[in-house]
Amino acid sequence: MKCSRCKKLACVALPSHHAGFCPECFPLFFTRQVETAIRREKMFTKDERILVALSGGKDSLGLMLELKLQGYDVTGLHIDLGIPDSSYKARKKVENFCDAQDLKLDVFEMEKWGLPVCDIKEHVDRPVCAVCGKMKRHHFNRIAREGGYDALATGHNLDDEVARLFANTLRWDTAYLSDQGPVLPAADGFVRKVKPLFRLTEFETANYAFLKGIEIHSDPCPYSSGASFTNHKELWGELEYRSPGQKFQFYQGFLQRGKQAFANLEKEIGAELKPCKECGSPTSVGRCSICRIKESVATKKAAATVEGL
Ligand code: AMP
Ligand code: FES
Ligand code: ZN
Repeated sequence: MKCSRCKKLACVALPSHHAGFCPECFPLFFTRQVETAIRREKMFTKDERILVALSGGKDSLGLMLELKLQGYDVTGLHIDLGIPDSSYKARKKVENFCDAQDLKLDVFEMEKWGLPVCDIKEHVDRPVCAVCGKMKRHHFNRIAREGGYDALATGHNLDDEVARLFANTLRWDTAYLSDQGPVLPAADGFVRKVKPLFRLTEFETANYAFLKGIEIHSDPCPYSSGASFTNHKELWGELEYRSPGQKFQFYQGFLQRGKQAFANLEKEIGAELKPCKECGSPTSVGRCSICRIKESVATKKAAATVEGL
């Protein structure tokens, strides 16, 4: 196969775009997709300060590099989850990357804050990944809000978005369907959230990271039984193989024709939000669920220590 741009030998085939690219031209394709996403969805401008959540994986590091190359004012945020061995490795990858690329980085340590994810696993009677995800989103928002950032960017790609949309649709979860999308505007103590990689598949972000020589953290989380929505992603892999372009059409169709209907449905519902008495995060009750989980784990840990004496 020949590169669609320069006619040299292609190294990446993209059936959904009826195209293929060589190692030099593929990053240009990637750049165009990110530019289009930011422009069409009005994600942010070059005058704004963007906080980019960096897990150490291919998506978030690739996103950070691309935004830097496009001249955006970006700062990285890594949450050191406090999972033995795994968190140290992920953090090292993020720190090395930001050092090498001369990028600003803020690291937030869950252990120093008082609640490492290993304690959540031990003392919270709910799936650890769900609670961990909630914690991460809480700190992304809090740190972006306290730091006065204009937007918080994550590395979610088209596969992540399609798998989530599919899961929400299977459950007809109208609340989630009403605000799923590549941009969630700022409101009530929540900063604007953006996903500039939503036009790119996991295959494409992996190729970008590889061709740019980014050293990534690719070990799966030791606490999760596999990547999220694994079954749905496999199903979509099959659909996309049979009919290239389906994934993007499904997602784009939802944004253009489906989402608004759910937004109208949800408009009337929803409790009033006030800042949490303890941490200032928006909540409908006095203290937010994160502060309550933190206190409950501290109590259980203290009781376990007394019992062990
Ligand atoms: P995941 O939910 O692990 O698929 O991650 C989705 C996105 O969330 C990543 O692309 C990152 O932007 C962000 N993210 C996940 N884990 C972390 C972390 N520990 N620190 C900072 N950002 C993260
Ligand atoms: Fe949160 Fe695995 S990354 S539990
Ligand atoms: Zn709180």
